[in-house]
Amino acid sequence: MAKRKDDDVVGEEHYEPLQPPAGFAETARANDKSLFQEAEKDRLAFWAGMAENLQWSDKWERVLDDDNPPYYKWFVNGKLNVSENCLDVHIENGLGNKKALIFEGEEGDSVSLTYSELLTEVCKFSNAMDKLGVKKGDAVTIWMPMIPEAIVAMLACTRIGAVHSVVFGGFSPDALKDRILDSESKLVVTADGANRRGKVIPMRSAAEEALEECPSVEKVVIVNRTGSSYEPKKGRDLLWSDLMADAETDFAPVTIDAEDPLFILYSSGTTGKPKGILHSTGGYLVGVHTTFRYVFDHHEDDIYWCTADIGWITGHSYIVYGPLSNGSSSFIYEGTPDYPARDRFWELIEKYKISVFYTAPTAIRSFMRWGNQYPNKRDLSSLRLLGSVGEPINPEAWLWYYENIGKSNCPIVDTWWQTETGMIMITPLPGVTPLKPGSASWTFPGVEADVVDDRGKSTKSGQRGFLVIKSPWPAMLRTLHGDPERFENTYWQQYPGMYFTGDGAWKDQDGYFWIMGRVDDVLNVSGHRIGTMEVESALVDHDSTAEAAVIGKVHEIKGHSITAFVTLKEGYEGSEELAQELKAHVGKKIGAIARPEEIYFTYELPKTRSGKIMRRLLRDIAEQRDLGDVTTLMDPQVVAAIKEGYTGK
Ligand code: WT7
Repeated sequence: MAKRKDDDVVGEEHYEPLQPPAGFAETARANDKSLFQEAEKDRLAFWAGMAENLQWSDKWERVLDDDNPPYYKWFVNGKLNVSENCLDVHIENGLGNKKALIFEGEEGDSVSLTYSELLTEVCKFSNAMDKLGVKKGDAVTIWMPMIPEAIVAMLACTRIGAVHSVVFGGFSPDALKDRILDSESKLVVTADGANRRGKVIPMRSAAEEALEECPSVEKVVIVNRTGSSYEPKKGRDLLWSDLMADAETDFAPVTIDAEDPLFILYSSGTTGKPKGILHSTGGYLVGVHTTFRYVFDHHEDDIYWCTADIGWITGHSYIVYGPLSNGSSSFIYEGTPDYPARDRFWELIEKYKISVFYTAPTAIRSFMRWGNQYPNKRDLSSLRLLGSVGEPINPEAWLWYYENIGKSNCPIVDTWWQTETGMIMITPLPGVTPLKPGSASWTFPGVEADVVDDRGKSTKSGQRGFLVIKSPWPAMLRTLHGDPERFENTYWQQYPGMYFTGDGAWKDQDGYFWIMGRVDDVLNVSGHRIGTMEVESALVDHDSTAEAAVIGKVHEIKGHSITAFVTLKEGYEGSEELAQELKAHVGKKIGAIARPEEIYFTYELPKTRSGKIMRRLLRDIAEQRDLGDVTTLMDPQVVAAIKEGYTGK
């Protein structure tokens, strides 16, 4: 049990640091500070040493090329293949019969693939793609449910050197279309449908219109998952099962340069257009391989479960590339934690003897609200390590997780990172770092972060500021696809020579980082990044809407919930019906995760005299706080009008 230090202490730091549980450190991959010391002594030598753990066909000539910032290159002229490092090397090391992927579907169907079996599947799909004309450097969009075929497709891309762009299966066909167009994908891999809470959600038929509007797409490969019907398009649509039935089982991995692109992953920013975050091959794999090994304390017999979707960076780095490059057994589950009942996750942990479990604070807060009876029904004694990612975890949820899931016996790694960073950046090492509930603790060895003020000066301990990364790291994004200018402006312009994360943070007197969340117009809804502008663009796209402002309202479970303020065009009137229609419209343009929870109609948005929307005021209205100073408003009446005109929860 963690002890409350002193209830009178103000600030976030209320608890005595927790030491790693007895016995944990003895067998841990890291149990002293030597990795930190090594990295401190010579950061590049540290990363070079870590890179030696992978198999390279040509060794790099230079660890880091920093001649042309912010366009850094890692492991210059090194050559390797990611799928070879995730599959072939383990088979050569005698792990061919070890389970690589263990899958359970929502309906309880289960399948596992050993490293040898997974290699065969990957080679088969590589051959299939090769026959379809997919070559090194081509973009392939993957829009799929959480099924093993999605991972086979990703790994097959890396075997060929094709650049995958995985689009979250929950994004709408419209959002899919934008991402296919931006990446100019030749091939789309999808499924007929997805299982979700006992229902079938059609995918291929829903995407018909979107696919028709994407001229670059030559072929669409469809996995039959649900038996959902659709009209196949002759000459374009192909069945996964047909392609795999005839495919050869060997495919030699293509030699890839360390700096060749590995994948694009779209993420929200402060404009309406998602950013195509581009990761390259060598540095990325070194980063995720190393962090997986030490943060999740990789042990040979672990059954590791990360509950993310492969459509997010967490799925890329810590379901696929981190675990598989370490030869771990990665468990994946198709569905939601409350189907058919609220103990599904705990049932899966019991059934598969999960030892390392990595999930998000929003899920933990739901579990907490549902009550202890669900985890208490199940045997969770296989667990030895827990993780958290996606947003700040409040100490209360941290302690609940620690006591009720980990039974006060499992360290929790609260891992801070981003789609852009590719790898975990701030985190405890579970056998080393004394844990403070609510703090992501220290930088990973070889990573240099800081908290700075407006002018880029380090803040004193306890003083809030902006989180920055002070030197390049191997898994860093290389650019934004097709938009280097936005890459430079978004991340590198604020403070010369430093990467700007967009997060606020402070450091305590022991050097622990406390992350406070985004400082820009980006929301965190259930651990998903959504730009306010993205939702505003979707709203304005509707015929009725003249102007929209979107804010995040603090939400107990989700972190943020989306509230929209809408002014209508002449001839339209706000109503419950229209509110529903607008919500559905956002769902159609982006996906259900971006749907506003509340819509307020108003004849005008609160603006300053210079025309800037006062979002602070909108937040105050949404959260029913007293409004501060409104005298700078262009139209002080507007606030009362908004409050009255509110419709549609
Ligand atoms: C943003 C990145 C990294 C995978 C999931 C999200 C927030 C993430 C933490 C954490 C506090 C966190 C930050 C960050 N965030 N992890 N442990 N503590 N905040 O990836 O969609 O790129 O979002 O998520 O605000 O900037 P993403």
